[in-house]
Amino acid sequence: MGKRILTLLPALFLASAPLAGRAAAVLKNSDCLDCHSDNSLFKTNSAGKGISLFVDSAKLVASAHGTNLCISCHSDATARHPDDNKVLQPVNCAACHQRQTDSYGASVHGLASQSGQAEAATRNTMAPMTPASG
Ligand code: HEC
Ligand code: HEC
Ligand code: HEC
Repeated sequence: MGKRILTLLPALFLASAPLAGRAAAVLKNSDCLDCHSDNSLFKTNSAGKGISLFVDSAKLVASAHGTNLCISCHSDATARHPDDNKVLQPVNCAACHQRQTDSYGASVHGLASQSGQAEAATRNTMAPMTPASG
């Protein structure tokens, strides 16, 4: 039990950091997963093809991005989604990684050291929620 709490600490630390300035507005992962943990959720793209919108949160938590909030990457998601009918923008890796091809490079580790304890806890194999293109 004690060990489990320790490994969760960095995640809580990172998760609470963005709360500082705008407490009420921040959407929690559970807000998103209310809908996106449903493995039958899908949308139909303009070509008429069904695209799964299921998110395996266990996989995300176990990945190098386990400390990131959904809205850290999907930064344009608001409480009005999906009722506003605005398609969310593709995720901008470069917002956090200056050079996304340099995955073991200075930018990623610079980010980890800024956030204190993050590095030790998140040095796992990379398992992004979708196969990364770059
Ligand atoms: C009330 C249910 C619901 C909630 C809550 C919800 N979503 Fe969605 N989400 C949907 C539906 C339905 C779609 C498909 C919309 C469409 O047809 O374009 C969708 C689509 C998406 C997409 C695909 C791109 C797009 O816009 O179609 C992403 C990414 C996404 N949601 C992320 C999130 C994130 C992040 C959160 C939490 C901040 C969240 N969703 C909360 C229902 C929800
Ligand atoms: C490290 C960044 C990152 C985090 C954190 C993240 N996502 Fe994503 N997500 C992506 C990327 C990249 C895609 C691929 C499409 C794109 O570029 O927007 C994607 C796609 C999606 C899609 C569209 C379906 C699909 O598989 O292509 C949904 C829905 C979604 N994410 C919801 C979520 C939810 C809910 C969370 C939190 C539990 C979350 N995401 C956390 C990066 C992230
Ligand atoms: C909101 C900020 C954020 C976004 C956006 C983001 N990442 Fe990350 N990424 C991180 C953090 C934090 C880590 C953990 C750093 C560590 O532990 O060294 C990480 C780790 C990684 C790693 C593993 C590096 C290692 O040393 O293990 C890769 C690869 C990576 N990200 C690729 C991507 C890709 C590709 C995208 C776009 C789909 C993306 N990231 C979007 C914050 C982000």
